[in-house]
Parts: sequence; C-alpha cells; structure tokens
Amino acid sequence: MIPRDFIDTLLARVDIVDVIDRRVSLKKAGQNYQACCPFHNEKTPSFTVSPTKQFYHCFGCGAHGTALGFLMEYEHMSFPDAVAALAQDVGLPIPESAQESDRPKPPPALWDALEQAAQFYRQQLKSSPRAIDYLKQRGLTGTIAARYGMGYAPDDWSPLKQVFSDYSADALAASGLVIDNERSRYDRFRDRIMFPIKNIKGQIVGFGGRVLDKGEPKYLNSPETPLFHKGSELYGLFEARAAIKAAGRAIVVEGYMDVVALAQHGVEFSVAALGTATTPIHVRTLLRHTDRLIYAFDGDNAGRKAAWRALENSLEALQDGKEISFLFLPEGEDPDSTIRAHGQAAFLRLLDNDTLPLSAFLVRELASGLKLDTQEGRASLLKQAKPLLEKITAPMLGSLIQRQIAELAHVPANELTQMGVKPTIARRAPPRPTRRPAPSRLRSLARMMLLNPQRVAEVDQAWLDANDPLFEHLADLMTWLRDIGSPSLPSLAEAARGSTLESLVNELMTDLLDKDDSWDWNAEFDGAVRQLHDDWRRRRQQDLAARPLNSLSASERQELVDLARS
Ligand code: UTP
Ligand code: MN
Repeated sequence: MIPRDFIDTLLARVDIVDVIDRRVSLKKAGQNYQACCPFHNEKTPSFTVSPTKQFYHCFGCGAHGTALGFLMEYEHMSFPDAVAALAQDVGLPIPESAQESDRPKPPPALWDALEQAAQFYRQQLKSSPRAIDYLKQRGLTGTIAARYGMGYAPDDWSPLKQVFSDYSADALAASGLVIDNERSRYDRFRDRIMFPIKNIKGQIVGFGGRVLDKGEPKYLNSPETPLFHKGSELYGLFEARAAIKAAGRAIVVEGYMDVVALAQHGVEFSVAALGTATTPIHVRTLLRHTDRLIYAFDGDNAGRKAAWRALENSLEALQDGKEISFLFLPEGEDPDSTIRAHGQAAFLRLLDNDTLPLSAFLVRELASGLKLDTQEGRASLLKQAKPLLEKITAPMLGSLIQRQIAELAHVPANELTQMGVKPTIARRAPPRPTRRPAPSRLRSLARMMLLNPQRVAEVDQAWLDANDPLFEHLADLMTWLRDIGSPSLPSLAEAARGSTLESLVNELMTDLLDKDDSWDWNAEFDGAVRQLHDDWRRRRQQDLAARPLNSLSASERQELVDLARS
C-alpha cells in the first residue's frame, strides 16, 4: 500500500498543468487551460485543466481526474506505476512501505539479467548466417528484426556463460533464463530464434524462442516468473501502441511470427497472446487502447477452438460502444502466410469486409447442430446460452443478444428471465455521465464541504432534506470528510478512488472547475448552512403543526412555540 500522506505530498508537489502539457499541448483559456480531448475525437476543445483545483475534466466525454488519474488513463499505467512516475518527475523518493505491495517487487537483478541476455541474443543473430537465413527465408528484413529486438540463442549448453560472469546467480534461474537439474545448470534457450516479450513500459519480461528447423517444442516460452505472467502480457503491444492508436483498432493473432510478419507488411497494430488463451485481462488491456478488437486466428481446428475460447473470455470484458470481431482465415492459413501470399491491401480488405462480429459468432456457434424446429433443440439452445449470456457485462449489447437468442428459441425476451437467465448488468463502472446532474441545495453545500472538510462539523446531519436527490450520499460524504481532514482537492479525489464516493467526489470537483479563484466559498458556506438550517426549521415547524396538539409531547410543544417565534 502507498501511504496516503505520500500521495498528498506528491500531489502537492506536482502541477497537473505541467504533467498534461508535456503530453497534450494546452492553451490558456481564462483561468483554466484547454485542449482537444485526448480521450475522444473532437474538433473544438472541451478538455479543461484547472491549475488551482489541480483537476482535469472533459465536458465532451466526461473524462476527469487528478494528475495521477491522467497518467493512468493516458499512459495506461497502473496506480502504483503512475505514482512512481510522478514521484520520479519531482524527485520524491517512494517510501519503503509503498514498495512492499501485495505482489512482492521483483529485484532489479531480474530486469538486468533479461536485458543483458536480450542484448547478447541480438548480437548473436548478427553473427549467425544460419539464423539470418532463416529469417530471410521467412520474409523478414533486418529492420523488422531490429524493431522487435529479435535475436538468436546459440547452439550450446550454456551460451549465457559468455554474458554473466556469475552463471550460478539466482537471478538467472528466477528470470527463467536457465534450467537447473540435480547436477548442473544450463541455458533454457539454445539454438533458437529469440523473441523478447516486453511489458507496456518496454521492459523485457520474458522470451519466446523458435527452433530453426524441425524440432520439439516448436516454440519455447519463458516460464511464469515474478516478472512474466502469460495471462496478462501481450506480445508486441509495446511496439504496436502508436499504430493501434492511429489505426483505431488492434488485431489479436496466435503467434509471434504472425505479429512480426504483419509488421513486415506494414500492418503494425497486431499483438499475440503468448501460447495461452486470450484472457479477460488481455481483452481489458486492449480495450483501454482501442475501441475495436479483431481476433485473427488460424484457419485450422486449433484456431477455431482458440477463437471460441477467446470469445468466452471476452464476454466479461465487453463494453457497449466497443466492437470485438473475428476474422476466420481459410483452412491451413495463418495471418503470416496470408499477408505473405496476398499482401497488405488484401489483408486489410479481409479486416474490413470479412470479420464476424462477436455477437454473430456467439449465436452461430450456439445454434449450430441444434434442431431449432423442435422444443428439445430450443431448450438445448437456452441451456447452453445461459452461462454465456450471464457473463456479458455490456448492458445494451447483452440485452440485444439475449433477445436474439430468445427469438431463436421462440420465447418472448422477458421470459428468459423467468427461465432463470439473469438480465445483463453492468459490473464495471457505468459509462461516465456526460450530462451534469441537476443542481440542488445539498449539492452546492457538498461542493463547499469538499473545499474545507474542517467545516463539515458545523452541519447537523438532521438538517438534511431527505427529499433532496443527494440526501443519501451526502451523509456518507460528511462522515468520510470528517474522518479524512485532507489538505487538498486532488488528495481528496485520490483518497476517494475505488470507494463508493468516488463518482460523487469527481462530479463535485468538476462543478468546482467553473468557479474562479476570487470566489468566496467561506461566505458561501455560511450562507448555505444558514439556508439549510432555515429550511429544516420550516419543515420541522410544518410537521409539528400538522399533528393534533394533544399528540405532541411537552418538549415538542415548546419546540413549536420556539420555532414560531423566531
Ligand atoms: P503455431 O504452431 O500456430 O505457430 O503456434 P506459428 O505462430 O504459425 O509459427 P510458425 O509460423 O510455424 O513459426 C502459435 C503460437 O502458439 C505458441 C506460440 O506462442 C506460437 O507463436 N506455441 C506454439 C508454443 O508456445 N509452443 C509450441 O510448441 C507451439
Ligand atoms: Mn505460422
């Protein structure tokens, strides 16, 4: 865990204008700064950054947050990584306790070992005519090999002895570069074409290695290590980032060679899952980079199976407004052979014209082989569809697919629910509200509380109007603010991250962007508290007056007299 104090100090040191301006050029507009929003397409700037509130907000798409939030969204960083990046910018050392997160940080020696090995493999490629010939014969040029940092592991038991003076170092085994048996240690990768696998920051986390001739296994991958998790890394994502953004789509292929061959032919926006099925983590990662995902799997049995697994694992990562589709290549073809045989233009045409949307693939596979003209067949359809439909997280797409299945089974869509199919619910955060919520008294009060948590104590929770749309949240917000006593707005926003108050705090921060710096929120706070108290007294008086006099207790009668007098 990163201590909250540290986040507060960090946010006090950085300037959000600076952080954003280095990535998206900002123009001064009144007291704020503006740009065209980096998170959606627009021609007129609605992306606003406030130097005084240290907050950004897009009035077009609703994206908002602090400097940390911006880095997470824009650079696709995790929270700890964004903290580390900002801390480094301002020269703040990260406290010890922050480093002992739930997953122990791999020691730096592992990174070094992988990096040095990769460098060695690259050099070795240059001096191995056999390896160079192999790549040439597969249609690859030196430029592409260099772009992907490809290399060659020599044919020997321990080539890495040439790199590491201490071949017995723990880091070599822990990074998966060597294998220990009872008697000796030897290199994992020998006589193989090497594909370094990078994380999103470009650091090498593992390798894949291919035999040059026939041999088993054809591909050897690094084992799971503290740095390398097959289920979350994607081969080629680091190299493809810019191309994915430019193309507005990403292709997921099966093999290393597919990624490299596509790039060789100018299709640079592809990535591969690493000899495992595509996981929901992969899908979510990719959907943070783009709105359109295309799976292009081999046209063989294994490829079709992989496609179905990918579909199953995509269901829980679906989002309305994003498209996932499948390209099925002819039997015996893979993206590598297809683009080599037919060229870039033909391949792009396939992507444009020959893909099957996930929904259609789902329905087609479910219905295949069933006799839908019999009740038995329709019942099987529903039975097989149920667990899949329930995984879908995109509410709109989910409902549409449910309706289609219902039609095939000849039942009204609403009967699916009665048959035990749960309706699709959004399990992730709902899409950002782009419309501002209606103003209310409590809302303006809440805003002012955010500016000064210490004054929360002046408000009695009994005064809150239960009919106000904000009533329920405000009580929670008050309790939270009283406990937190946090120094600044961005610190509050970060403290709320992941809590039930997150969206409220963000909305209130957004409201505050409009207020200029001369705004006297102290006076406004006084006014709002007075107003709230008066409203409550009026309601209380009406309540008491509406009841028969003889049902009131003595103190209530006195209260009524006092209320009427003032
Ligand atoms: P393929 O067998 O489809 O190979 O494996 P490919 O990518 O077309 O390779 P080339 O064209 O023959 O060189 C697809 C992916 O499955 C994993 C690798 O990630 C590979 O890229 N795989 C395959 C393994 O991990 N081990 C293997 O033995 C084979
Ligand atoms: Mn292939």
